[in-house]
Order: sequence, then structure tokens, then C-alpha cells
Amino acid sequence: MKMALSCTAFKKDSLVLDVGCGTGLLFERVGKSVRLLVGLDISSRILKEAKRRVKRFPTTAVVRADADFTPFRSDVFDVTFAMTLLQNVPDPLVALREMKRVSKDRAFIAITGLKKEFSREAFVKLLQRVRLNVSVMESSGELKGYVAMCWKGRKHLKERFGSY
Ligand SMILES: C[S@@+](CC[C@H](N)C(=O)[O-])C[C@H]1O[C@@H](n2cnc3c(N)ncnc32)[C@H](O)[C@@H]1O
Repeated sequence: MKMALSCTAFKKDSLVLDVGCGTGLLFERVGKSVRLLVGLDISSRILKEAKRRVKRFPTTAVVRADADFTPFRSDVFDVTFAMTLLQNVPDPLVALREMKRVSKDRAFIAITGLKKEFSREAFVKLLQRVRLNVSVMESSGELKGYVAMCWKGRKHLKERFGSY
């Protein structure tokens, strides 16, 4: 998460989605610096803890939903996170397509994949199959997973941020 946050550009008016938010650890880091942070998780048991956190951050909210079928319109979020989610969903491609759908054109999408679940090549291929542009891939020795910083849309952003 630290790695993903260090590569992410937030603005005061950003709308941020955390898919598979768990207990809401991201709220602590981002909750006060953006317009709205929505945590989405399928587990009502886990969301209980997240709801306690939300109370401390007025610009955060939680939603119980499946990552494959979220209740949001298309092209809403400026930044979308999916930290240690993909290994838990039945078909990562479906969840990734949904994340892409609800993210704005040019949105940043930060996704992790566990090394024990995906080879580096398989992880990159997965992201490319949903036509996400991968600009940064981190997978240093001490990390248990890969952290991919992607963006949705136009190729011209490659010139600004480079491409994997
Ligand atoms: C390993 S936890 C990660 C929590 C958080 N992202 C973090 O990094 O601390 C994975 C989370 O994904 C949620 N999850 C699993 N399948 C899901 C699905 N289909 N839709 C939404 N959330 C899901 C689980 O309930 C769990 O809270």
C-alpha cells in the first residue's frame, strides 16, 4: 500500500475508490486529503471495522458490494485502488473490467497481485487484457506482491508517465 500511495497523485477534489477495502486501512492515509473516498467490500463482517474508521473521516464512506458488480455509474473515480483483492475474486478479469468501467478516462488505478498467485508475466498480461496501461511495476524482494500503477485511456499519457 505504501508503494502504491507513493506513486499516486491525489488532488483535493479527487474521488477515490478502494475496492476490497477490508477494515479501511487506506482511510487513515488518504481519508483527509481528497473530496471523497469510498471503500467497497463484499464482507459485512469486515466492513463493521471499516465503518468504525469512517466515523473519524467525514469524507469517507463504505459500501457493501461485489467487486464484479459495483453500484456506481461509469467514469466516476479519479483514483481506484485494489490492494490484495485479485487473489480473492473468482475471475480477476471481471473485477478489473468493472474497476476500469467506474474509473474516469485518465484515472490512476493501483492494483496489487500476490507473487504466489501470479507470475510477473501473467500479472502484466492480465492488466493488458483489460487494456490498462501499466506505467510502474514494483516487485522488490521484500514485497510479497507486485504493485502496478496503471492508467485508463489515452496513449498520450505514456509520454508523461512512461510505460511499462
Ligand atoms: C486481503 S483483504 C485486503 C484489504 C485491504 N485492501 C488492505 O490492503 O488492507 C481482501 C479484501 O477483499 C474483500 N473481497 C474479497 N472478494 C471480494 C469481492 N468479490 N468483492 C469485494 N470485496 C471482496 C475481502 O472481504 C477482504 O476484505
